[in-house]
Amino acid sequence: MKLTQSAALAFAATAVAAPSATTPLKPRQASACASAVSLDAKTNVWKKYKLHANYHYRGEIAAAITSMSADLAAKAAKVAEIGTFVWLDTIQNIERLEPALAETPCEEILGVVVYDLPGRDCAAKASNGELKVGEIAKYKGEYIDKIASIIKAHPNTAIALLIEPDSLPNLVTNIDLQTCKDSASGYRDGVAYALKQLNLPNVVQYIDAGHGGWLGWEANLKPGAEELAKAYKAAGSPSQFRGIATNVAGWNQWDLSPGEFSTTSDAKYNKCQNEKTYVTTFGAALKTAGMPNHAIVDTARNGKSGLRKEWGNWCNVKGAGFGIRPSAETGTELADAFVWVKPGGESDGTSDSSAVRYDSFCGKEDAYQPSPEAGQWHQAFFEDLITNAKPAF
Ligand code: GLC
Repeated sequence: MKLTQSAALAFAATAVAAPSATTPLKPRQASACASAVSLDAKTNVWKKYKLHANYHYRGEIAAAITSMSADLAAKAAKVAEIGTFVWLDTIQNIERLEPALAETPCEEILGVVVYDLPGRDCAAKASNGELKVGEIAKYKGEYIDKIASIIKAHPNTAIALLIEPDSLPNLVTNIDLQTCKDSASGYRDGVAYALKQLNLPNVVQYIDAGHGGWLGWEANLKPGAEELAKAYKAAGSPSQFRGIATNVAGWNQWDLSPGEFSTTSDAKYNKCQNEKTYVTTFGAALKTAGMPNHAIVDTARNGKSGLRKEWGNWCNVKGAGFGIRPSAETGTELADAFVWVKPGGESDGTSDSSAVRYDSFCGKEDAYQPSPEAGQWHQAFFEDLITNAKPAF
């Protein structure tokens, strides 16, 4: 079917479901559950709830569609209907939470990323945050406590929390960097505080565990599991805690075998060549370390493999495509669900080498250039993700 440009826009406007084409960011009307939601973190809640397609990402896509060809616009409208996490990456952006909760229907779960630790992104530059090392009181009082009070006001809505991407994994592998040394105590204190304060009945919690190419190395499995378990225990072993999130904003394949980097000279030191093996192998280490070990896996942008020159390359990988759609059918007991965490189309980091947050990874050969600041909309990259999607749109 070939839509004319205006037909595609009309279609997109309804599919994206903004009440009118001029107010794309307005949340939908939805009915929360009739009574308080109580999630059982001993079970896989994703079997019961579908990941919500939040208004913020729908709005970004609605705006993106206006400058797209008819064919791509129709496909983009489908992306807007796929559940994706909402990122609370600044104190200001906590304002995204209330409207997203209010529009989440009873049979869906809102995915929320908690991401504002002091000295954030200590081993890279692109996502350095607003809070400085030492501003832990501000993190607790003006960030976590605010999120907690908003969630408490919405007891009838199910929420999946993903706590602080990259933070604890950085303490395992990048602690030789002065920036990570400086951030360490705030990360440990902050993650434990978040888990404790956000241990609410309608919430299920996951903490970030990097990916197979990070904590999957033989030497990192045990220290990685122990670092994460320490946070879980420091929080008082919260009842709503379920396990880990892997591949967040990442590019790894789920079950490709042999894995993407299995022919490199050091591959023998890492058996976790795909995320499926990582979830199982790291999961066993977590069990030994004494913490719940189920996982959600970000498959938003892993549709295509073989794009990265090196496993650690993380910035706007050129040629990437949208990946496996959110689903609780993973075929692996420890993997609760495939989820879309990174909103595909938001940049990983700027390629402008004069910018304060410029990271050289964003200037590599396999990184898309030019690219805007982390979190900013990246139209060309979004269009490529659609074109290269696997499964296709
Ligand atoms: C990056 C950005 C952050 C954004 C997130 C999701 O981590 O630093 O601001 O919210 O990506 O796109």
